[in-house]
Amino acid sequence: MAATAEPAKGQNTLSITDNRTGKTYIVPIEHDTIKATDLRQIKVNPEDFGMMTYDPAFMNTASCKSKITFIDGDKGILRYRGYPIEQLAEKCTYLEVAYLLIYGELPGKQQLEEWTNHITTHTFVHENIKKVMDGFHYDAHPMGMFVSTLAALSTFYPSAKKINDPLEREMTFYRLIGKAPTLAAFAYRHSVGMPYVHPDNELSYAGDFLAMMYRVAEPKYRPNPIMEHALDVLFILHADHEQNCSANAMRGVGSSQVDPYSAAAAAAAALYGPLHGGANEAVLRMLAEIGTKENIPGFIKDVKEGKGRLMGFGHRVYKNYDPRAAIIKKLADQVFEVTGRNPKLDIALELEKIALQDEYFVKRKLYPNVDFYSGLIYQAMKFPVDMFPVLFAIGRMSGWLAQWSEMLQDPDQKIARPRQVFLGNEKRDVVMLSQR
Ligand code: ACO
Repeated sequence: MAATAEPAKGQNTLSITDNRTGKTYIVPIEHDTIKATDLRQIKVNPEDFGMMTYDPAFMNTASCKSKITFIDGDKGILRYRGYPIEQLAEKCTYLEVAYLLIYGELPGKQQLEEWTNHITTHTFVHENIKKVMDGFHYDAHPMGMFVSTLAALSTFYPSAKKINDPLEREMTFYRLIGKAPTLAAFAYRHSVGMPYVHPDNELSYAGDFLAMMYRVAEPKYRPNPIMEHALDVLFILHADHEQNCSANAMRGVGSSQVDPYSAAAAAAAALYGPLHGGANEAVLRMLAEIGTKENIPGFIKDVKEGKGRLMGFGHRVYKNYDPRAAIIKKLADQVFEVTGRNPKLDIALELEKIALQDEYFVKRKLYPNVDFYSGLIYQAMKFPVDMFPVLFAIGRMSGWLAQWSEMLQDPDQKIARPRQVFLGNEKRDVVMLSQR
């Protein structure tokens, strides 16, 4: 609405003066944001499309209202549904946290029993999924197999297309959280040429995953409790992170009302990238490349000269420290007591020490993120580097589902479809090939 009168001070509005026309517009402010579509009234003449914002990579655009995860990047705060990540990591299991993310409250005893039972009884995959797995080359990256088999699940559960049916959505929660570890472990077993191990419903979520990964000939696989706990905590730490690249993919692709398995495959594909979930893999490769402590100064020099990045450092949101990195660092000590110290830890610690004192990193507020130490724990637990993004995806599945479910029930949401600033040619006529 264009306004001529001076707005009263203290109003929850924003006055915008278009200096091209001298007109002032008053737009409402809600939750410290203005609606981008309110800017469309700002025009030089009536034929104009209207003002838009230009925001590549969504640096300053809220794409949704959400009640799931809160991050204060400057203060290093991460909360799921109001609960600090530190408390959830200490006091809850991954399945409790998954329930919390999806339903908004921590489960009571009976709710947890039912939830656990539902997830546990949906860990098996259709036998034909094994054939899909078998079709991959022997050295296929497990994340590629994971992404593809997630998408393949949509063909086994066509009723999941009924995304507006709450019961179908429930089934999707059970199936995707239940089957993610099975697909992940099968991808690993395929890559090492080992027979697939079926889920063991007597084990915990993390324990069952370890069994499907590592069981050989023992009649009953008993996971090491410290490893089992560490993995469960890692799943919690990775469970959600508000509108990150893969959650945005889940919401964006899901907004087309495609089935949830296809949307989850898109989210997992986003997570595969080295700037997102692939970073922990990249950290390990980087540490291997550095090799010894003596090579660190040369490596840091190269990074500062723009010849690569210090992987596991920096974050779009955290500009103080990543609270998950602090929890993982402690967890690493517990795991290394069992497994022995990962020799790359010394290089990582030294890298962190040097980087945190170096003006380049200090000035840009670059701190270790969740991926800097998680890879070291995974490696000590004998997960091959290729499996790191897959491990991330298992934990993140509950977050993707919570984001997807919230998106579907949000009356403000429509199919995600950004605008562009068109800078291409004006209309021109095609010249026949013979004359070009
Ligand atoms: N090493 C060296 N320099 C870096 C790094 C890094 N890891 N991260 C950022 N910078 C520098 C950039 O070169 C840039 O410098 P400049 O201002 O001189 O050009 C400045 O810091 C800002 O960097 P941006 O890329 O603009 O920051 P952005 O918020 O877009 O990127 C990101 C965040 C992608 C995480 C980035 O820090 C990065 O690439 N880190 C390494 C990869 C990584 O660890 N990813 C995991 C993220 S956590 C997760 O997904 C779970």
